[in-house]
Amino acid sequence: MTGAIRRAVGADWAICRALLPQACSRTDGPIEGLILLLESGPRVGGAAVLRFDGQDAWLGLTVVPTVRRQGLGSYVYNAAVAAARAGGARRLVAACDTFAEPAAAPFLEKHGFAAVTQITTFEANFAASAPILSRMRDELVARNRIPAGWSVTTLAQAPQQSVAQLFAEYIAHRADLADAPLRLDQEAGRWDSSPVILENGRPVGALVTERDGTTWTVEGRFVVRGYQSGVANAILLGAAVDLGAANQATYIRFDSREDNRDTLKLVRRLEAVPLRVRTRFERALY
Ligand SMILES: CC(C)(COP(=O)(O)OP(=O)(O)OC[C@H]1O[C@@H](n2cnc3c(N)ncnc32)[C@H](O)[C@@H]1OP(=O)(O)O)[C@@H](O)C(=O)NCCC(=O)NCCS
Repeated sequence: MTGAIRRAVGADWAICRALLPQACSRTDGPIEGLILLLESGPRVGGAAVLRFDGQDAWLGLTVVPTVRRQGLGSYVYNAAVAAARAGGARRLVAACDTFAEPAAAPFLEKHGFAAVTQITTFEANFAASAPILSRMRDELVARNRIPAGWSVTTLAQAPQQSVAQLFAEYIAHRADLADAPLRLDQEAGRWDSSPVILENGRPVGALVTERDGTTWTVEGRFVVRGYQSGVANAILLGAAVDLGAANQATYIRFDSREDNRDTLKLVRRLEAVPLRVRTRFERALY
């Protein structure tokens, strides 16, 4: 099957948004779209979107399922490479859910990309996980090992500005941990139920969790330098369990990198199942 590629203008952007909602969701920085028009079959056969960010061009690319494996993806990809080079990019970056899209990795690898990071989102049953997650905190309490001056509160009750600053310092810049920077200072309401450890009123750690109905998603965790022992983690996990139980949580979701052995051990103990695998691929253009 053959086709032609058109640079997206005007109403073409509605097609790009429908086919590649994720790639079109960020509007900061220059963006370019390509539409694949087919001579037969469905008229629109696919699209690519490039978002320029400094020397990187972030690529989103899709071909409609009925016309895959006929070289059309590669045809659109080659046009996207030319557009990325013309736009001044030195590197192409693609981030996709390789669990939901099993064709992505072989396709991108065929075109010279390498997978650089992989973060899996797992889901576990809350009731079955709660005793496992809170056990260490319960033991610390039983042995009177909670450090003096420590108390646990929620983000809603904590000095939010300080938590936001710590979050920005420890987590927000970690592109490998978040698709987009988490703006705790601007969207604190989303994470109201996150447990925060205070030492004499000053935040020293937090487990940023988002509540969506009865599903609790752990977005990130920080413990300030000097306090990074297992104690703070155990307290944060125990507190998250208490908050979840008080709010009828049914599922808990959390992320793990492919090399995080501790979290992967926990995955096995909680019998957590993968929901998505965000893989970041990169390819130099020069
Ligand atoms: C990935 C995608 C764009 C490929 O489109 P396509 O038109 O099928 O790609 P091509 O026909 O040009 O495939 C080129 C090569 O990629 C590899 N490839 C593509 N799909 C594959 C699959 N399902 N399994 C294994 N290899 C695959 C093969 O090496 C293929 O060459 P071959 O057919 O000669 O063996 C399409 O499957 C898609 O839209 N997937 C969903 C979105 C996505 O994953 N986008 C990529 C990341 S941005």
